[in-house]
Amino acid sequence: MADLTTNCGGIISPNPFWLASAPPANSGKQVMRAFDAGWGGAVWKTLGQPIQNVSSRFGATNYGGTAAIGFNNIELITDRPLDVNFAEIAEVKRLYPKHAVIVSLMVETRQEWQDIIKRSIDTGADGLELNFGCPHGMCERGMGSAVGQEPRVNEEITSWAKEYSSIPVLVKLTPNVGDILPHGHAAQRGGADGVSLINTIKSIISVDIDRFVPNPRVGSMSTNGGYCGAAVKPIALHMCGQLARDPGFNIPISGIGGVTNWRDAVEFMLLGASSVQVCTEVMLKGYRIVEDMIEGLNEYLDEKGFASASEIVGKAIPGYSEWGNLDLNYETVAKIDSESCIGCYKCVVACHDGAHQCIHPNPDDARVPIVDEDECVGCNLCQIVCPVPDCISLVEVANGFAPASWNEHLNEGAVLRPKKGSH
Ligand SMILES: Cc1cc2nc3c(=O)[nH]c(=O)nc-3n(C[C@H](O)[C@H](O)[C@H](O)COP(=O)(O)O)c2cc1C
Ligand code: SF4
Ligand code: SF4
Repeated sequence: MADLTTNCGGIISPNPFWLASAPPANSGKQVMRAFDAGWGGAVWKTLGQPIQNVSSRFGATNYGGTAAIGFNNIELITDRPLDVNFAEIAEVKRLYPKHAVIVSLMVETRQEWQDIIKRSIDTGADGLELNFGCPHGMCERGMGSAVGQEPRVNEEITSWAKEYSSIPVLVKLTPNVGDILPHGHAAQRGGADGVSLINTIKSIISVDIDRFVPNPRVGSMSTNGGYCGAAVKPIALHMCGQLARDPGFNIPISGIGGVTNWRDAVEFMLLGASSVQVCTEVMLKGYRIVEDMIEGLNEYLDEKGFASASEIVGKAIPGYSEWGNLDLNYETVAKIDSESCIGCYKCVVACHDGAHQCIHPNPDDARVPIVDEDECVGCNLCQIVCPVPDCISLVEVANGFAPASWNEHLNEGAVLRPKKGSH
């Protein structure tokens, strides 16, 4: 069995699975139950001046019968007294010395940062996470994403935290920016030991069309919230990969956003995350999802022949590049497995209305449509809509053209194959 021990910016945990700062990491009893279930670390629900929350405060996107594919909240930071939180953190650390406890913090003035960091360190916590990401409520008070969107302020507060902290400092970044790079670099310049990303995405989850008010409704009004859950994974993966592949960025990443199972976690690790944090899926399904995550990761590592989880961190970075470096001569076409095809014709409709009009009814077999390979551009749409797993595959065509990217074509005159599907 592979070694799952994780070191993320100097914070050591028995495995890479951490609870994200959120309701599942709100109290000592919860975090201890999570550790008993198998979680390797927990980022405590953000501490600062305790706030008053609204009711209601959560919403969800349901799509195609799948409940809560995306999740949204207008909750703020902790609403529990600071001394209660600190006493519970100290107790968790005393009882679970090998697990990672990271204290998430959000305050305003330099003095407040100094005071809260000292109190956090006194608990015996393993690290701090600076919450520069919350996109609702706290940003209106000049904190959260208001800091995360301003590289100068991010760098300055990070440097205060580093000055006052004797334990590792992670900076949690907001995705509510055009480009994540300046923000990751600001944290790095401030001395951060690592970054965590992403926090939630500014959003309105839905509108109550009978009461004429967005959701979640607080009496007769609502406000924008933060989007998270499975639906945000692609955005989070992109930001994680952007930072990880940047040659000037060289501090560890804790990946967050839409992780629902071990595969999602592996994807984040392959794109550069040393640890992975989970919030929404735990809120929806409970702490025990970590059992499958640990088992799945172990099996994956064994099957691929890796001795430790850390070996896969960043493995997919060389495979992530600019569009201009992709091989324009690489060619695939769709092939239908006539045995497993159920003749639903979803691929025909999709290709005709949304792609290149090259899957047609088959005069010889009413059930299985045929692909006109000379016209197929290998876009994948038919495979995406086909309800039968592995029924449609995209198969490489040996077209005789040497690999050539757009950049090579522009700079070196590399020869491109004739275009398909532009009739
Ligand atoms: C109800 C709720 C409360 C949250 N509270 C915090 C918080 O106090 N501090 C923080 O840094 N992030 C907070 N988050 C953001 C999560 O830690 C996490 O970054 C985000 O939900 C994306 O992960 P997920 O897709 O696994 O949920 C909260 C998220 C939710 C849903
Ligand atoms: S890969 Fe695209 S173009 Fe080719 S058959 Fe499928 S949908 Fe049509
Ligand atoms: S979508 Fe899949 S199952 Fe349906 S007709 Fe096309 S190939 Fe067959």
